[in-house]
Amino acid sequence: MRWRMVSSGISSFLLLLVPLTKATNSWTIDHFGFFKNGTFKQRYLVADQHWHKSGGPILFYTGNEGDITWFCNNTGFMWDVAEQLGAMLVFAEHRYYGESLPFGAESFRDAERLNFLSSEQALADYAALVGALKKSRPGAEGSPVIAVGGSYGGMLAAWFRMKYPHVVVGALAASAPIWQFPGMVPCGVFYQIVTEVFSKGGAHCSANVRRSWIAVDRLASTDEGLRWLAAEFGLCSPLSRGDGLKSWLQETWGNLAMVNYPYGADFLQPLPAWPVQEACKHLGFGAGVTDQQLLSGVAEAAKLYYNYTGQAECLDISQTATGQLGTRGWFYQACTEMVMPMCTDGVQDMFEPEEWDFQAFSDECFHEFGVRPRPDWAETAYGGRDIKSHSNIVFSNGGMDPWTGGGVTSSLSDSLVAIVIPEGAHHLDLRYNSEYDPQNVLIARAREVKYFRKWIEEASTSPFILISD
Ligand SMILES: *[C@@H]1O[C@H](CO)[C@@H](O)[C@H](O)[C@H]1NC(C)=O
Ligand SMILES: *[C@@H]1O[C@H](CO)[C@@H](O)[C@H](O)[C@H]1NC(C)=O
Ligand SMILES: *[C@@H]1O[C@H](CO)[C@@H](O)[C@H](O)[C@H]1NC(C)=O
Repeated sequence: MRWRMVSSGISSFLLLLVPLTKATNSWTIDHFGFFKNGTFKQRYLVADQHWHKSGGPILFYTGNEGDITWFCNNTGFMWDVAEQLGAMLVFAEHRYYGESLPFGAESFRDAERLNFLSSEQALADYAALVGALKKSRPGAEGSPVIAVGGSYGGMLAAWFRMKYPHVVVGALAASAPIWQFPGMVPCGVFYQIVTEVFSKGGAHCSANVRRSWIAVDRLASTDEGLRWLAAEFGLCSPLSRGDGLKSWLQETWGNLAMVNYPYGADFLQPLPAWPVQEACKHLGFGAGVTDQQLLSGVAEAAKLYYNYTGQAECLDISQTATGQLGTRGWFYQACTEMVMPMCTDGVQDMFEPEEWDFQAFSDECFHEFGVRPRPDWAETAYGGRDIKSHSNIVFSNGGMDPWTGGGVTSSLSDSLVAIVIPEGAHHLDLRYNSEYDPQNVLIARAREVKYFRKWIEEASTSPFILISD
């Protein structure tokens, strides 16, 4: 699925005007063992036109599960603050995504090749990259490095600071659900927030989504109904059961809530401002609506997400997001160490009840990749809720982002700070400044920069602090 810029175009403009160097570094495929000694090329992007060459800071984007140029384009905040901080910008691509494929086109072929896809290997790549940049760029040796990331990239930014505090002086972890792991938060929080966003999106909106599932079932029980559904939704291929349509819709509503930005944007799909409100305009039915009327409205709402530009010839229920995301790689990560339980109950949320079934998930992973997940590993490796001993991390969350349920939303200490942007969607603060930004995101960005300055200052003075004994 392709996506296009349809917003005011500020972001694409700026990126065309500024010099952005693309480079690669060769890293070892396995940082944690010595048997496999192969290397692969990791891609990264550098913009240094504002960098103060004698020790100016480096803002380092810890790439997540997709093409790094796409994250670079969607992280305008770093471009907006580069000049005032005299900072170099670096965007590092996560191994197994974009062009950074350890075994080329074969990278996803089997568990043996996928074996080197993990957050730990990615963090080690980033630490090695910082070291290489400092060696190769005159003046960078003493540059304090701040990690920045959103979503899984935000988790990586936080973990980068935790695991490599000698490499990064601090981290901005935006919309980073570091607690979306087993036993840390209830599995229903994600879809509860999605439901809240739809409830606020328009009268009867979540209620109509809630009753759409049984309507799909009723129509899907006959061949004629299945044909009607496929035609009404403009599907690319005929429908044989209702289940695929339902799970695709559920994911679609989750994505739509994530990107409910106050202006037209193009993150997962090109969309108008406040797309949930726009979708809900098709879902305002009161009592007495027929199944077909209701599902026509649902189809219109889905088309708002998939066909806002009018370019979609048909809708493909095997996809829900931009092709820039590496869904296969992320599926493998979810099947190994990034186990994030999700469930719904149909009461606190607008979806059909579905329990979190670890065994079924594990079986699916085994079938798909020949591996089974280790649900407790993330907690063992990264500390779960017990992270008080760390420092210099800002956790920012959109109050209306479904992922905020697994995020750090209250400060844990003076230097583990939570910032909540009440009406914010998924990492709104990482986007370019826009005239449509609510005041509270502007305040959040200003606070984030204040912390950056503090960490930079601390880093420049700390070597001279005398330790008295
Ligand atoms: C990022 O933006 C640049 C400039 O607008 C564009 O050429 C490039 O295709 C974009 N990258 C992605 C992955 O969208
Ligand atoms: C890499 O491993 C192969 C065999 O496992 C060995 O022949 C080769 O010398 C090794 N290369 C390096 C640089 O260690
Ligand atoms: C997408 O929108 C265009 C323009 O309105 C329309 O011609 C096309 O049929 C739509 N696609 C689907 C799948 O509805």
